[in-house]
Amino acid sequence: MPSIERARKPLRQIPGGPAGRSGEAGGVEELLSRLRAARSVFVLTGSGISSDSGLPTFRGAGGLWRDERVEELASPEGFARDPVLVWTWYNERNAAHRRANPSAGHYALAALEDRVPDFTLATQNVDSLHKRAGSRNLLELHGNLREARCTGCSQRRTLDALGLPLSEIEHACGGRMRPDIVWFGEALPRDAWEAATAAAARADVILVVGTSAVVYPAAALATHYNAGAFVAEINPEATAISERVDCALRGTAAGVLPSIVQSL
Ligand code: OAD
Repeated sequence: MPSIERARKPLRQIPGGPAGRSGEAGGVEELLSRLRAARSVFVLTGSGISSDSGLPTFRGAGGLWRDERVEELASPEGFARDPVLVWTWYNERNAAHRRANPSAGHYALAALEDRVPDFTLATQNVDSLHKRAGSRNLLELHGNLREARCTGCSQRRTLDALGLPLSEIEHACGGRMRPDIVWFGEALPRDAWEAATAAAARADVILVVGTSAVVYPAAALATHYNAGAFVAEINPEATAISERVDCALRGTAAGVLPSIVQSL
């Protein structure tokens, strides 16, 4: 279930996980040579990659919505407290996702998939931009905003650009229609999580793009499942895992990823 660990608190170690890294960051040349040799690549993305498409990130500037914290809205408790408020937020986000277009970073990852024999992209994003950019082996760890489902009878409903009409939140069965995504306090989809941990564990190179790496369990995929992989972070700012990665490229996803893929 998604939860936040404070950046200063040591990350939870999974038994068998890495003993720790030197913290010395290698350069782009080493990343390129590792990628050229890689048979298996695992990528973890977060909302930063979609900020190049004009969508806001969760933390930092613009991280609040009408003074509401994300964790207050994206939780079963928040939904029980005020389903209209929560759906108003998701309907606005859904509309923004559909207005947005994949960025050069999304397309670069789709192109990288064509070059690597075993490629897995796990995203925390629910905006469908990786799918629209053409990524195929894609794991949406926090679900997506393409559908709603009923909390009572599990009936599903495809969302269009207008989202869910607020008058239709209450379902005929007595349940409520909710976004088909993972909220704080809820378990990730089992199949996606198992596929993601397996892909992280067998990767030669792990790319961590546009995530603050504070929301668990997704953040653990970056450094907890594979002691031998070369881990590169692409983010304009330092994050909770920066001292643990092998290479930190300080730039935007759209600025950095296309040149990496073109240089392979
Ligand atoms: P955050 O908002 O926590 O972090 C966004 C990260 O993107 C930050 O580290 C930024 O420095 C970085 N960033 C900003 N612009 C960027 C760019 N153009 N290119 C690359 N990086 C950039 O978002 P997430 O880590 O995705 O979960 O948040 C994780 C989860 O918290 C979300 O999936 C969501 C949220 O609450 C749920 O709702 C369950």
